[in-house]
Amino acid sequence: MFDAKAFVDDQIGKIGGTVRGKAIIACSGGVDSVVAAVIASKAIGDRLLAVYVDTGLMRKGETEEVRDMLMGLNVNFKILDAADEFFGSLKGIAEPEAKRKAIGERFIRCFEREAKAFGAKYLVQGTIAPDVIESGKDGKGLVKSHHNVGGIPKEMGLELVEPLIELYKDEVRQAARFLGVRESERQPFPGPGLAVRCLGEVTPESIGVVREACHIVEDEIRKASKAGTMGLPWQYFAALLPIRSVGVHNSERVYGRTVVIRAVLSKDGMTAKCAEIPFDILKKISSRITDEMGDRVNRVVFDVTDKPPATIEWE
Ligand code: XMP
Repeated sequence: MFDAKAFVDDQIGKIGGTVRGKAIIACSGGVDSVVAAVIASKAIGDRLLAVYVDTGLMRKGETEEVRDMLMGLNVNFKILDAADEFFGSLKGIAEPEAKRKAIGERFIRCFEREAKAFGAKYLVQGTIAPDVIESGKDGKGLVKSHHNVGGIPKEMGLELVEPLIELYKDEVRQAARFLGVRESERQPFPGPGLAVRCLGEVTPESIGVVREACHIVEDEIRKASKAGTMGLPWQYFAALLPIRSVGVHNSERVYGRTVVIRAVLSKDGMTAKCAEIPFDILKKISSRITDEMGDRVNRVVFDVTDKPPATIEWE
């Protein structure tokens, strides 16, 4: 049985004992990075700087929510507006692994700058066990390179601190509850953000579409769950497909986009089952997406695959 208190106490002791100077952490607001930040902050106080990078690839309202959360947890933090930089790095890149690498590298460059400015000697990361397993070793067994694993240039000169490296998601959640990290409305969210839910080349415009579609899916499924119509899936979101199909909007032919609804049941993200969504909820989501997006989206589909053979995200 996982003992959250013993785990947290142990990690605070270890970090307090090894981290001699300042440390920086990339805090996305996801449960992994917030738990790692709170543990490190309890160990070294304001010698830790949590940097939230606003990549322009985050969910609706997320930056504001993360700001409030970090303030409430008493973590020393900074919000960095880097959207233009990220869209610049992603220009012309459509292949999923290339996108992940470009985002990972841009992250590193941002941290490098912030770390230098802060005078950090250590980099704290919220890497968890499935990230390492799925990223594979020496290219073997690679499913997708989770962006908080690998690619950290040695010349950065920062020593890595990864307090959650042996934990699975459900254990991280237990630690979060113990630390008072508010997690009720939060679901797992990939490091590369909405970029992996927007298939093909990413632009500010396409990210805007998938951000709104994700918000609608989250909103309707939460409402249905609160009303007792369905249980809350482990993860539920929308992805934007890189194909166009013919439709009709205001009696005019449109050649619009397709949004896919994805909802899964899982314990740790390593395997997943497609979650059942009542048909009337699916129809409501579809109507809202097509109504609220004007002529930009004219088709909505539902992904019924499990993991394996699919993965949870589409890229
Ligand atoms: P996949 O798509 O690999 O996702 O089945 C498994 C779980 O991991 C999340 N995910 C990520 N999390 N960095 C992360 O921290 C990433 O690069 C990343 N990619 C996927 C995904 O949302 C799901 O919960």
